Amino acid sequence: METLIIGCGIAGASAALRLSDDPSQHITIITRAPDPEDSNTSWAQGGIVTRGLDDNPSLLVEDIVRAGAGLSSRQAAYVLATEGPKLVQSVLVETCGVQFDRADDGELVYGLEAAHSRRRVVHKGDKTGAVITRQLLLTLQARPNITLLTDHTAVDLMVHDGHCVGATVLNRQTGEIEPVLAHHTILATGGVGQLFRNTTNPAGARGDGVAMAMRAGATISNAEYIQFHPTAMYINEHPFPLVSEAVRGEGAILLTPDGRRFMLDVDPEWKELAPRDVVARAIYSEMKLNGYEHVWLDIASQRSPDYIRERFPQLVENCAKAGIDPTCDPIPVVPAAHYFCGGISVDLWGQTSVAGLYAIGEVSCTGLHGANRLASTSLLEGLVWGDRAARDILTRDTYHLPRIIPPFTSDADPEFDIQQMMGFLQNLMWEHVGLMRDETGLRQAHQHIQWLRKQVEKQYRYSRPTDALIGLRNAAQVAGLITDAALQNQTSTGAHYRTDSVRERLHVS
Ligand code: SIN
Repeated sequence: METLIIGCGIAGASAALRLSDDPSQHITIITRAPDPEDSNTSWAQGGIVTRGLDDNPSLLVEDIVRAGAGLSSRQAAYVLATEGPKLVQSVLVETCGVQFDRADDGELVYGLEAAHSRRRVVHKGDKTGAVITRQLLLTLQARPNITLLTDHTAVDLMVHDGHCVGATVLNRQTGEIEPVLAHHTILATGGVGQLFRNTTNPAGARGDGVAMAMRAGATISNAEYIQFHPTAMYINEHPFPLVSEAVRGEGAILLTPDGRRFMLDVDPEWKELAPRDVVARAIYSEMKLNGYEHVWLDIASQRSPDYIRERFPQLVENCAKAGIDPTCDPIPVVPAAHYFCGGISVDLWGQTSVAGLYAIGEVSCTGLHGANRLASTSLLEGLVWGDRAARDILTRDTYHLPRIIPPFTSDADPEFDIQQMMGFLQNLMWEHVGLMRDETGLRQAHQHIQWLRKQVEKQYRYSRPTDALIGLRNAAQVAGLITDAALQNQTSTGAHYRTDSVRERLHVS
């Protein structure tokens, strides 16, 4: 049987690995990036949640539900908490050879992040995502029944008699669009951060999977819940480099330019380690009310230079590029779009509402993250649902594949400025569909997005799509989806905050 996997971060790679254990399966995994290591997974710094020393699955479930503002699915959280730690050991450590940080006595070192009641995040310095990605790719490239294609952008899903039978794919090297037929298709395309002016996400996080699934008729849920990370480094570089929450986990404090530790007032119990939505909104409010360009994150006054260099090498590298030394200077930080808590609705096996189509990782919505994701659960979610979707596919019967003729296209209008349109969309989303929303702003955004989508569709219909045009089309469609969901939901919960709503949640409990 043929399976097409779109995206090769931890979710796609974990699905490919499990499927490839069965030699009768053939797996094609595609990524639009020229380098397969260039995924959101690679950029993850903090680490991956597992079971800490004084921990158990029920404690993790409670933390997930509390951080998710009560909207998280307990069933999904339970699956994650029970299956996740075993897969970290069997897939990442034993099969792929990932070596997490250990103390001198050989015991794993567990990190702490916001809204976790226990230390339970295993890591490799602050380069965990990069190390996991490299080891996963090395392992899957050695499997004879996996074909990995880089520089290939999925254009649209192909649906025949209500069953997804693969996707049309743009080969970016030749410019040709080709159908890739598959009995099962897995979307593992990641998130939507690039729809916003300020983001921590790489170029591919532009909603491709969600948009393709919508066009194929799949159900989408919780689209209003965009998680903004509180601490992106405010420097002249886009996307802004992430400053991991683990830095606050190890004691860093947030200060206004005049030295006020504002989180003491916002959440006296959890302080800088309150859930992300609370901390991000507190920073944003300080900036808006007082006209600050950024706030400061100070680890230097809390930890020794040697500790900072050893625990956070990526942070030290990123800071050095901007002329900052975090072992003695505070770091300028702002909130930035980071994670899509909503996505393509799936069951506990990653199956969408379209037969033959699965969605896993950030592109999917199991309900796990509710209204605000708990830190460092995203890599684990990709690992667990990659494995689950593959196991489900292995139980399915073969579906007879039809013959597909590739679509005809002609050349694009050279006057159409894709980058300018994308910039316009990113500003619009940041200003009106960002950390604080209201009806007037959302309606304005809705109108502009409608206009933009018309322009893009006109261009798209008559031209040979490029990767950039495909991305803009998807981004505009998903921006419309998020804006409309935010308009409809008048209640502030978790990451969705309406300044014109009466109910709000500022504290953890
Ligand atoms: C971080 O290290 O702060 C990001 C990890 C995550 O998004 O869970």
